Amino acid sequence: MRVFHWVNFSAVLLLLTIGLIIYNNKALGISAEAKVFLKTFHVWVGYVLALNLAWRYLWGFVGSRYGRWATVLSFGRGYFSELGAYLRSLVSAEPRRYLGHNPLGRLMVLVLFVLLTVQAATGLVLAGTDIYYPPLGGWIAGWVAATGVDPATLVPGDKALVDPAAWEAMRGFRKPYITLHKWVFFVLSGAALLHVLAVVVLEIRSRSGLVSAMIHGYKTPDRKPEDRPE
Ligand code: HEM
Repeated sequence: MRVFHWVNFSAVLLLLTIGLIIYNNKALGISAEAKVFLKTFHVWVGYVLALNLAWRYLWGFVGSRYGRWATVLSFGRGYFSELGAYLRSLVSAEPRRYLGHNPLGRLMVLVLFVLLTVQAATGLVLAGTDIYYPPLGGWIAGWVAATGVDPATLVPGDKALVDPAAWEAMRGFRKPYITLHKWVFFVLSGAALLHVLAVVVLEIRSRSGLVSAMIHGYKTPDRKPEDRPE
């Protein structure tokens, strides 16, 4: 769980940074070759993120009690009254303690997972349309290569070897994915910032022990947590 979190954290931070540079490539005066290099680097880090995410999905079914989806994403009956009680306890002098995620944290985890999954899925499509990388790269290259050109010899960014009509059709196919990838980038940046802020505020306000738990794996609550098994 902690390994997942820190790999995820590093990958997202790198992807946000490289993504921001790609997004502003014209303003930064980045050459066409450098842009292809940045995209390739971004895609390799993207694979790490996607694999890590896939592993986390699996862990949600086979992992420890506090890592399972049934616990992390428990929004069943009574969720809203629990959320209400938690929010009231936050403004009171005695915030409720949790060993797993508190009700607000569970909502944040859901939002972050949905955003990361959409970003990984759209990114994997773009890896194919932009630099002919897996999983779709082989198919895309076969689609756009000009007659008589071996798809395996296509060079990202070089339009001399592609069929113009097929290229335009492929760009049309790519459009919704790049649009979504950009929008989710903005929303994810905001959500990640909110996530970090919430964790820090909680650590200070209610000595949640969350930051230290993410480092050494243990929470040492100063009162009985709401979610400890009897
Ligand atoms: C936290 C996850 C990610 C974030 C925040 C992110 C962010 C971005 C941003 C801001 C851009 C620039 C968009 C533009 O102006 O064109 C971009 C482009 C791109 N991303 Fe990601 N990305 C993420 C994950 C991934 C993954 C998992 C992959 C693939 C494995 C990927 C592949 C690409 C590709 C190929 C481009 C180039 C598209 C282009 O600009 O023409 N991304 N990403």
